[in-house]
Amino acid sequence: MSEFVEVAKVGDLPPGQVRVVMAKGKRLALANLGGQLFALDDICTHDGGPLGEGEILDESVECPRHGARFDVRTGRVVALPAVRPVAVYHVRVEGEKVLVDIASRSLAQQSAADVLAHRRRPGQAGAG
Ligand code: FES
Repeated sequence: MSEFVEVAKVGDLPPGQVRVVMAKGKRLALANLGGQLFALDDICTHDGGPLGEGEILDESVECPRHGARFDVRTGRVVALPAVRPVAVYHVRVEGEKVLVDIASRSLAQQSAADVLAHRRRPGQAGAG
């Protein structure tokens, strides 16, 4: 069952920004990618850094502590040192209200080996 909670107003978060919001006592990172909003757990899986205090780079949020990056759409790791994804939540906009369904927590399947493979690129020095 859904449990949508208002966490912000649409105008609170310009495109390309991320911030911490509270939903029933739970800290979430709310990100705006080109006008589309995404919510993730605010706790970096590397060492607990506050993702909502990080920066948006492309489609990911960079942890302010050691630079791990997570895809804000899926929670998957796209840059070390984190190797485990963060949970994501459904977001809905109703007029000016931004609502997060705190019952929709979902965690992508991603192994550490997958993370390591993801960061290697063909032709990279040392590959092969
Ligand atoms: S706590 Fe986030 S990268 Fe280390």
